[in-house]
Amino acid sequence: MTQRLGVNVDHVATLRQARKVGYPDPVTAAALAELAGAEQITVHLREDRRHIQERDLRLLRETVRTLLNLEMAATQEMVKLAWEYKPDVVTLVPERREELTTEGGLDVQGQKDHVGKVVKTLRDGEIVVSLFIDPDLDQVKASHRAGAQRVELHTGRFCEARDDKDRQKELSRIVDAAKMATKLGMGCAAGHGLHYDNVRAITRIAEIDELNIGHSIVARAVLLGMERAVKDMLERMRGA
Ligand code: PXP
Repeated sequence: MTQRLGVNVDHVATLRQARKVGYPDPVTAAALAELAGAEQITVHLREDRRHIQERDLRLLRETVRTLLNLEMAATQEMVKLAWEYKPDVVTLVPERREELTTEGGLDVQGQKDHVGKVVKTLRDGEIVVSLFIDPDLDQVKASHRAGAQRVELHTGRFCEARDDKDRQKELSRIVDAAKMATKLGMGCAAGHGLHYDNVRAITRIAEIDELNIGHSIVARAVLLGMERAVKDMLERMRGA
């Protein structure tokens, strides 16, 4: 099965917010990603608004031609925004203000009543709901019981594995969780920390139908665009 690529444009917004200016615009990045073949645009509207802003979400909802996947915490404020902007998919993620990035999956099992309620409210708004969880069989089963149509498996531990043995162990956890999700009738995505050298191990897992990748793509875009960007500036400086 070929997997859908969801391009996460959060870090284009990170660069913009570093100066609080209008560029680079994640909305433009999303359009270019779609032109290049991205089959989904993913953004995380965080409680502290450190990268993606509400304005981005509004414009992305108007302009994204593929699927818009909104990652968000399972809070009242965010559920209200999801109902307002109606992304195609909401991925519920855990969120701690001090974390560098989303560390670890959502504990669906430990807060099943709350997650179940949020899933229902979003589904009542005709939004597909995915839960971002660690590749753990109990979390997969709890996600199914909570009413989610999809799960996204956190690949962070696989990506950070120190040696082959550890990597294989993490990979088999992902495989087992993906098989369980499919067996329960849920769609299964994966993401976090995937880059050009580790992605193929995950694309080989037939049960995974989607990958969400952000940091490595934005990082590569910065480097591949450097030559053109410097030449453009020299032209402005020295052109007629
Ligand atoms: N999927 C989810 C649920 C995430 O929270 C993130 C990070 O925002 C990603 C995918 C993308 O991770 P990365 O930027 O490391 O590719």
